[in-house]
Amino acid sequence: MTILMRIIICMIVCGLLSTAAFAAHEGDVGSAAFLSGDIEKGMMLFKDTKFAGATSGKSCNSCHPDGKGLEKAADKKEFNIMGKKQTTLEEAVNFCIEMAIKGKAIDTRSDQMTDIVAYIKTLKGKKMEKEKPMKEKGTAY
Ligand code: HEC
Repeated sequence: MTILMRIIICMIVCGLLSTAAFAAHEGDVGSAAFLSGDIEKGMMLFKDTKFAGATSGKSCNSCHPDGKGLEKAADKKEFNIMGKKQTTLEEAVNFCIEMAIKGKAIDTRSDQMTDIVAYIKTLKGKKMEKEKPMKEKGTAY
């Protein structure tokens, strides 16, 4: 291989690496900037055992520790929880409110819904720790 060839290959590789790094950074900034709703509040609701009038003593976090199982939810067009189909994230949230924490479905345009959805969107692609399996999967209710 000639010196020139090596230099060219090196330039291509370096270029690709820096593009990838830049793209990853852009992605982070983008997802945070375009969220509506209050992520902090959403997280509080997610961990609140009284959220939406829940009577099961559970919070969303009981079964989805730190959002476990919801990493792909933000992008889904179709959900399937316990054999029932939901077509929006809000509907899926309400389904878990009614069936899992035994609360009352909330208005899909309410602040609480917007906040909890904002929180769920931050989980997108999040790497979950292996030690924290999603609890009670398939055995709930
Ligand atoms: C008793 C356990 C339990 C509780 C509590 C619970 N969930 Fe779930 N949730 C599940 C199960 C089981 C599924 C189906 C997951 C699967 O099959 O992979 C699910 C699925 C979901 C999904 C769809 C995920 C996807 O990508 O398809 C969303 C969104 C969700 N839950 C939100 C919530 C929210 C918000 C709360 C609190 C109001 C909550 N869950 C409380 C058990 C629970």
